[in-house]
Amino acid sequence: MELDGKIALITGASSGIGREVALQMGAAGAVLALSARREADLTAVAEQVPSGSSIHVADLGESVQALRLADSVVAEHGRVDILVAVAGTKVAGPISALSLDDLSRAYLVNAVSPMALAGRLAPAMVERKSGLIATVTTSISGGRRDLGAYAGSKAALASMTQSLRQEVGAKGVAVFCFDPGWVRTRMAPDGTEEPCTAAARLVEHIKLGKGSRETLT
Ligand SMILES: NC(=O)c1ccc[n+]([C@@H]2O[C@H](COP(=O)([O-])OP(=O)(O)OC[C@H]3O[C@@H](n4cnc5c(N)ncnc54)[C@H](OP(=O)(O)O)[C@@H]3O)[C@@H](O)[C@H]2O)c1
Repeated sequence: MELDGKIALITGASSGIGREVALQMGAAGAVLALSARREADLTAVAEQVPSGSSIHVADLGESVQALRLADSVVAEHGRVDILVAVAGTKVAGPISALSLDDLSRAYLVNAVSPMALAGRLAPAMVERKSGLIATVTTSISGGRRDLGAYAGSKAALASMTQSLRQEVGAKGVAVFCFDPGWVRTRMAPDGTEEPCTAAARLVEHIKLGKGSRETLT
């Protein structure tokens, strides 16, 4: 998929992997809608990508904001060709210690909001017979002690991504889920890989423009 001139909505664009995806897609000519909660960090990214890009502050812990985000990007840019749903939150602690708020936040940010966004944007992509939706999971989605809410919510995301692929994949919309590995970011300060390297792999998959039944790495 040629990125030049494409409208790409990137969540989690304020730091880490999402920020690097934004910089690399911007360098390839995509017009970006950058979203996260931290406005100053989004502004800093926007200053490094092509003019015409926009920033959209949204808290995906409130999934109604995901729907508003999709609508505001379409209102500003006319369409979304590519959704890269990178935003995620690490909720840590043994299951027995997690509050209802902890459990809810993990699932809202990591699973409900990305799928709400995808669900809002996919019909217009189907209508145009063109589009790409990428989500970001983790290698520990099978379960991990003290990270159960995070792992479980990412498993839900990966599963729903595959359901979406089956629903729209034959209608011109490429859908896949990406596992970045262990990447040094705010979320994983001990990670072994630089965010730009993981982002480069994700951007390559986006450029290939194909859906996948396997989680891509
Ligand atoms: N680093 C790793 O080793 C690793 C491994 C597997 C998967 N991942 C996944 O990769 C993605 C990116 O994470 P990262 O490692 O790059 O960490 P990061 O630097 O902490 O990035 C997380 C991003 O998500 C956004 N975010 C978090 N909570 C949000 C909320 N409630 N509403 C809207 N945006 C929110 C953050 O922006 P604001 O704080 O500005 O809102 C930030 O841009 C996540 O989905 C993560 O689960 C990372």
